[in-house]
Amino acid sequence: MPDDQEVHKGLEGIIVNETKIGYVDGQKGRLVYRGYDIETLASKSNFEEVSYLLINGKLPSREQFSEFNRKARERMKLPGNVVEFIEKNCGHSHPMSDLRTVVSFLGALDANSNSSDLNLQKSMGEDIIFRMPGIVAAIKRKWEGKSIIEPLPDLGMAANFLYMSSGRKPTEEEEKVMDTCLILHADHGSNASTFSSMVTISTLADMYSALTAGIATLKGPLHGGANEQALKMIKRVGSPENAERVIGEMLGKKEKVMGFGHRVYKVYDPRARILKEFARSISAKSGKQELFETAEAIEKAMISKVGGKGIFPNVDFYSGMVYESLGFEENIFTPIFAFSRSAGWVARSLEYVSDNRLFRPRSKYSGEMGPIEYVPLEKR
Ligand code: SDX
Repeated sequence: MPDDQEVHKGLEGIIVNETKIGYVDGQKGRLVYRGYDIETLASKSNFEEVSYLLINGKLPSREQFSEFNRKARERMKLPGNVVEFIEKNCGHSHPMSDLRTVVSFLGALDANSNSSDLNLQKSMGEDIIFRMPGIVAAIKRKWEGKSIIEPLPDLGMAANFLYMSSGRKPTEEEEKVMDTCLILHADHGSNASTFSSMVTISTLADMYSALTAGIATLKGPLHGGANEQALKMIKRVGSPENAERVIGEMLGKKEKVMGFGHRVYKVYDPRARILKEFARSISAKSGKQELFETAEAIEKAMISKVGGKGIFPNVDFYSGMVYESLGFEENIFTPIFAFSRSAGWVARSLEYVSDNRLFRPRSKYSGEMGPIEYVPLEKR
């Protein structure tokens, strides 16, 4: 390999494929799903419809939506052996490890997972999306030592997720907030977890393998795991008065402040703007103003200190406060992210494999070229 090969660590800035699914404008702070601005979908659509849009390229007609919805409601109820698997095997290390394992278990049960037929890949992908609310809710209940709840036939995915998580039907407002969070997290370009799914499907492996890879990748605190760490950090700062000092100390020690910065956005993440307003209104109603004011003080301190470097709040900074207000513990925040992002992982895997090219980058070798003579162990 010629010596002048430039190394693009982390594939930074490298375009790996062409897509029609979604666009992230890092300079203007704009996010588009199939031509629709995220703000439009967040205020007017729902997660089922957005999942359909990401996968199929257009919003569904009434007939298409009713069929998609019917399948979703039918598949939301987990098979008995999956419920039993969760009851017997989950609740030990982290809910993201549980989620990764349960989706992999679904693949172990599905004989179609040996096929790379595009139609089968699509129906397996849709099945996984439809099952995510039930799986994440069941894992949550297992971690709380509570019984697993079945979905109600008359509720959509966001409302049923809240119902299966708590045993209480959500208010209209709670359902709207949850549904909007699911829309906001559904797709985001070639982020690390989506890229993992695409690499996996590019070998013609099955959709369960692709989504297991996506879940495994999302877990990391530099990616989806940041939402859990960000709320813990806000609570550690404790009050608006502490923000300036604590953030200064963290930056001084070159620590990464969770929920800030982005490989693509060098301005405010448009999703964070929407989540911040949810967090503002929810904290006002639930008497948690100080937590929100602490977060805002952290945001102000960060922007004043590193905003000039293009470091602003990202999707993970305010989402934790919203999820906590909906009754979720911190360790469930990233599984909720994965539930939503399953739509993007499926859509981008299907798009990529339908015009496939095996991912196989190169590395620049800087080791010994040898050949070095082998010295037997007894002489070393
Ligand atoms: C998600 O890719 C996606 O689209 C992801 C996502 C999606 O929807 O899929 O948007 C979801 O993962 C959002 C990001 C969640 N992660 C975090 O909040 C973790 C904290 N953020 C950082 O680790 C960081 O900002 C990254 C990883 C998100 C992006 O960082 P880059 O592009 O790799 O930038 P870098 O680490 O090279 O940092 C460049 C400079 C460095 O300073 P210098 O060495 O140049 O002096 O900026 C600094 C960094 O130290 N920096 C930060 C920082 N992020 C970058 N300093 C303090 N706190 C931070 N959060």
